[in-house]
Amino acid sequence: MLPQRSIWLHPKSPDIVQIVDQRPLPHQLAIADLTTVDEATIAIKDMWVRGAPLIGATAAYGVYFAVKEARTASNPAEFFSQKIDQLLASRPTAVNLAWAVNRQLEAILGIEDWGKKAEIAFDTANQIVEEDVAQCHQIGVHGLALIEDCYKKTGKPVQVLTHCNAGRMACVAWGTATSPIYQAHAAGIPVHVWVDETRPRNQGARITAWELAQAGIPHTVIVDNAGGHLMQHGMVDLCLVGSDRTTLTGDVANKIGTYLKALAAHDNDVPFYVALPSTTIDFTLKDGLKEIPIEKRAESEVTKIQGWTGESLEQVLLTPKDSPAANYAFDVTPARLVTGLITERGICDASEAGIRGLFPDLG
Ligand code: MRU
Repeated sequence: MLPQRSIWLHPKSPDIVQIVDQRPLPHQLAIADLTTVDEATIAIKDMWVRGAPLIGATAAYGVYFAVKEARTASNPAEFFSQKIDQLLASRPTAVNLAWAVNRQLEAILGIEDWGKKAEIAFDTANQIVEEDVAQCHQIGVHGLALIEDCYKKTGKPVQVLTHCNAGRMACVAWGTATSPIYQAHAAGIPVHVWVDETRPRNQGARITAWELAQAGIPHTVIVDNAGGHLMQHGMVDLCLVGSDRTTLTGDVANKIGTYLKALAAHDNDVPFYVALPSTTIDFTLKDGLKEIPIEKRAESEVTKIQGWTGESLEQVLLTPKDSPAANYAFDVTPARLVTGLITERGICDASEAGIRGLFPDLG
């Protein structure tokens, strides 16, 4: 049966964190147990879990495991600090990771006893998970109004284009970009989603399409280069994407290819919205292009492609065997191309004034 969430505590043993291992989706539903900080790090680094909010939630449990393990280390403080560095280095672009780790460090600051620290870190990780569920739900409430407006104007199914997976497998539940879509569907508003396949790891084709199919939401998978064509022909009412890190000035880092969709949307007067919880805002940055670290991943993700033979998952070589490949995992869409940010507190301009207006208490 499909789990309700992407991460949860083992029902019989709350010391074990369970996740959907997203690598074989949609062909196999694999559940993995995380019990150590090293396992949490591998799950993030090797993309068993992925998507900014879920990376943050997994890292939060990683800190809890690190505290627990530190209790029996010969030098607990040194062990703990090394494991925190390891977690922080596991994926560089999604700021939710550093946000969650820092939230944990603040929570245990000043506590001497490692047992007490572990209790606090466990509770804090659980809080982070529950807050993400609530925030993503609220993103849906606010984003629903945009879909509703489109429907009122045209009276036709609302055509939404999305990139990568900003769905429930990228968060704990609901998703960011998909939350308004789920809520529109539940409200009886007809929606159809154009799903960018999202090379090289195909999170759109594999995971977004799977999630939408589970929810019975009409969708069509398209190659990454099709979006511009669809927009030129009036076949997209709204672009809705997620974010891995958004600067205080509204520049948006998201999965590679997002920028090209924003350019096409701008050229065709298609509204381009980014859905994100405040945990994805990096209040310390003002220039996304210069300041957001862009993860570079293995060449093999580009040169090879994974698919289901009907019996097993296989990887096959796509390129000439000696051709080098470059694998930039994210790009930055400048704020000027973003129509608005959909957050848990409402929709704002992609600007410092907009963000500060909604979040005067943060940053
Ligand atoms: O490399 P991934 O799969 O972790 O990248 C995920 C994305 O780019 C998502 O669109 C982003 O995290 C927003 S998800 C809520």
